Amino acid sequence: MYKTHTCGELRSAHVGQTVTLAGWVHHFRDHGGVTFIDLRDRFGVVQVVGNPDESDALLPLKEARSEWVLQITGVVQPRIEGAVNPNLATGEIEVAATSVSVLNPSKALPILVNKEEGEDEHLRLKYRYLDLRRERMRRNLTLRHRTTKSIRDYLDEHSFLEIETPILFKTTPEGARDYLVPSRVHPGQFYALPQSPQQLKQLLMVAGTERYFQIARCFRDEDQRGDRQPEFTQLDLEMSFVERDDVMALAEDMFTKLVAEVVPEKKLFASPWPRLTYQEALERFGKDNPDIRFGLELQNISDLAEGSGFKVFEGTIAAGGDVRGINAKGLGDYTRKQIEALTAFVQEHGAKGLAYIALPSEGGMRSSFAKFLPEERVQAIIERMGAEPGDLLLFVADQPAVVFETLGRLRVHLGDVLGLRDPNVLAFCWVIDFPFVMWNEDEQRWDPSHHLFTSPMPEDIPLLDSDPGKARGQQYDLVMNNYEVGGGSIRIHQRDLQEKVFALIGLDHDVAQERFGHMLEAFEYGAPPHGGIAVGIDRLVMLLANAPNIREVIAFPKNQQARDVMADAPSPAEPKQLKELHIKLDL
Ligand code: AMO
Ligand code: AMP
Repeated sequence: MYKTHTCGELRSAHVGQTVTLAGWVHHFRDHGGVTFIDLRDRFGVVQVVGNPDESDALLPLKEARSEWVLQITGVVQPRIEGAVNPNLATGEIEVAATSVSVLNPSKALPILVNKEEGEDEHLRLKYRYLDLRRERMRRNLTLRHRTTKSIRDYLDEHSFLEIETPILFKTTPEGARDYLVPSRVHPGQFYALPQSPQQLKQLLMVAGTERYFQIARCFRDEDQRGDRQPEFTQLDLEMSFVERDDVMALAEDMFTKLVAEVVPEKKLFASPWPRLTYQEALERFGKDNPDIRFGLELQNISDLAEGSGFKVFEGTIAAGGDVRGINAKGLGDYTRKQIEALTAFVQEHGAKGLAYIALPSEGGMRSSFAKFLPEERVQAIIERMGAEPGDLLLFVADQPAVVFETLGRLRVHLGDVLGLRDPNVLAFCWVIDFPFVMWNEDEQRWDPSHHLFTSPMPEDIPLLDSDPGKARGQQYDLVMNNYEVGGGSIRIHQRDLQEKVFALIGLDHDVAQERFGHMLEAFEYGAPPHGGIAVGIDRLVMLLANAPNIREVIAFPKNQQARDVMADAPSPAEPKQLKELHIKLDL
């Protein structure tokens, strides 16, 4: 046996006991012959003390350096007065070593384990196994474990079956590119890695499973961002004989309990979780994944901008656009330079400019456009915006999509500037009543706003023929603190409606048959009504951990270029392998 106790568990009650520990050298220092070592294992840190000059059995203490792996036997003793460390769980005691052996030495470290020095992330990812030794990363992985454990326990108690579905499968589109895997035994043919288990979980409903879940790995070849990885993990679940509210109620209850259990220090912003329609989310917050923890909501001043005398506003309205603004409460004393920085911020995201009215706290007004407007108009705008001295009013005039995109981002930015985004408040909310399809300008066709298998609202089915853009889907997004954490829907379970939707989004009949024929056929053998949801575990844990991106809560993530820099993947294949796979490269 390598150890009788863990480094983290020793307390005053152990005083007098002989213990054997094994772990890594977290810190070492030498005080005139007496060596102090902080020995670390996964469970904590404990101070070990010994004088190698007094006993040969302690000689390794002399050579041991950071991250050497040691086995130490010794006697637990109280620390002398003044040496007690209240910040350490084991801070009242230390272990007086009687023998020390080196299990494995360590080279000098490329990154320190006992200290974060803001090193390049590349270096952290290259030496991820060292990075993961750090306390913060250990905590993140532990939190992730607790999160999935809480989910598993809850769903088990609610009669869900955890079922694994294949990774080598056929395209399961969720709006990204597929990762393809060539088949050796079927030359020229490919598996697609699932973008989600969507089809498989629906087929499990046809199979009579009724309640399924999986902590599922999903694969999507898309542009990387802080909240995206090429492979990521979903809590995927599906239920039969349910309506929208049943799935939402289950998810709400599960995550409310999870928060209380896993992150009791955090508070829910509101309970029951607020529900916003897609349109309301856009109009109030500029985005369908809003942060509802704070105000600074968007206001529409298009009616006041029309015929106002300010060309930028008038031109936009004439071109079918909108003028909307935000009251940045308390920033009325911003300098020209600070406002220019906000202007650059919205311009980076596509706005043409940022018009403003600043109301300094001392009184008066500064504005980029008020001089073009009659006094009453300016007053009406100030009133509409609910402004008072000390406020800064910021406006974007453009097509609605640009206005929402830029003001939505600006609002979040201002929330950060004003310290309104407390990470210990979790503002879950539901966004519902999404349009069923959205027009894809580039491809000149309708795209599903969730995915191909989402059901339209029953009362909106006639609109699929007459005015598809007006139809709403039975989709619900789970949103928290400016992130889309999950999404789900009630599904289509009838062949004719599914075929109608394929046709609407321009999927050729034969292509639909070739790709999804198995789904269409399954719907003809007594498919029950069903629906479900999938929640991004990485995003959820990132928010619970107050981490800046999802890489911080994934043991071995890819970098922003979708590379694993530790193992250096992807990498070229052997010519022999390519030949077996019947692949010729055309680079
Ligand atoms: P959707 O595509 O909305 O729905 O995905 C569900 C959730 O998965 C997370 N997610 C990601 N996380 C990290 N990296 C990515 N690249 C990534 N893409 C998505 C998000 C998202 O909300 N089959 C449907 C679910 C259903 O209808 O039941 C689906 O996959 O948190
Ligand atoms: P200009 O007439 O282009 O000099 O712009 C006058 C003011 O209006 C400046 O503060 C610009 O930043 C702002 N502005 C220009 N275009 C827009 C726009 N589309 N929306 C909001 N403000 C704008």
